[in-house]
Amino acid sequence: MTPSPDYQSGFRNQFSTEALPGALPLGQNSPQRCPYGLYAEQFSGSAFTAPRHQNLRSWLYRIRPSVLQSAYRPLPEHSVETAPLQNPASDPNQMRWDPMPIPTEPTDFVDGLFTIAANGDANTQTGCGVHVYAFNTDMTHRFFYNADGELLIVPQMGKLILRTEMGVLEVASGEIAVIPRGIKFQVRLGEGTDAARGYVCENYGSPLELPGLGPIGANGLANPRDFLAPVAAYEDLTGEFELIAKFSGRFWAADLGHSPLDVVAWHGNVAPYKYDLARFNTVNTVSFDHPDPSIFTVLTSASDTPGVANIDFVIFPPRWMVAENTFRPPYFHRNLMSEFMGLIHGEYDAKAEGFVPGGASLHNCMSPHGPDADTFNKASNAELTPQYQGNTLAFMFESRYVFQPTAAALNSNHRQRDYVTVWSTLTSQFTPDQR
Ligand SMILES: [Fe+2]
Repeated sequence: MTPSPDYQSGFRNQFSTEALPGALPLGQNSPQRCPYGLYAEQFSGSAFTAPRHQNLRSWLYRIRPSVLQSAYRPLPEHSVETAPLQNPASDPNQMRWDPMPIPTEPTDFVDGLFTIAANGDANTQTGCGVHVYAFNTDMTHRFFYNADGELLIVPQMGKLILRTEMGVLEVASGEIAVIPRGIKFQVRLGEGTDAARGYVCENYGSPLELPGLGPIGANGLANPRDFLAPVAAYEDLTGEFELIAKFSGRFWAADLGHSPLDVVAWHGNVAPYKYDLARFNTVNTVSFDHPDPSIFTVLTSASDTPGVANIDFVIFPPRWMVAENTFRPPYFHRNLMSEFMGLIHGEYDAKAEGFVPGGASLHNCMSPHGPDADTFNKASNAELTPQYQGNTLAFMFESRYVFQPTAAALNSNHRQRDYVTVWSTLTSQFTPDQR
């Protein structure tokens, strides 16, 4: 396999890539005999009959077809949970967690996943699972795929090497990667990384896509050319390998006599991809007040109701604050949509302390939240000069479906049980005699 990653640019382009010259059949997908004795295998990321602009499929030309594996056997219970949860604990309380501890025992990416919350129903392809990961060990002889959803991976600490069927992606903190539902891959630690931590949105619903731009026009927010897909890279290895599948909320394992990273060439528009969040072209007010945070949407997964997302992936990146006569941090609010937030690095402008890189917060449908008392007092009296807020990168998984926290997350040691008190020192400032 090509040791270093190489990329093709664009969002859902009709990519073409071959690791050996002439490995891609020309003019057809499934010739009687493929070049180099490869097997042709179609990978469908959408229903066959999905509208053309949403139709996702790639053709993979591989050394052995994916059917060459043992029967699946169920694996024991795992710290990954799937909606609908067995013991749903809908809870309107505002919640916050400290960073997931780094494991002390050898733990790989799959075993290092821990579910914070989930919503919708994986079996009906609605909603998502929200996980954090913390691991310190490479996957070498095991591989993973997820039939329940695509994986949006948000590294917070450390660099990941995602070795996928379709090529290699290297992803560092500040970047994101998306692995389509069903794509086989393994995760290793990047150079100089002893342990890695981050967040995963397991999107059960329609694949993430770029949001429409409306009056913003043809440019801005996340631009298609900044998304990178891998080029074909293969290994021809025999030995004892294990394929872990997440299917219908459970983990399964199958034995393989070869590495599944054996795709020599592929073409099509469904593939893993990465994106550097620093490329996000941030749009915001140049007069007063705040536009809604939908202007910070990087990717969105549509539900069956127009404009009401299954999931939005939203970031709060470094940006200039210039609004005049305006309370500049996020205002107090109560939303229909439910919000899971994480912090990749720096500080988040609505909270003075307690929300730290690697931590998380959950504000469910209509639960009030906003700046803490310190932030409110400071921002109400701040001199409103233009200010560059450079030391920050927060994000949100926002969903129309209420997030059900898992019992494990509710009871975890790293949950901040006193979170609601960050607002308790806000006092009445009402002066009826003085406007
Ligand atoms: Fe919010």
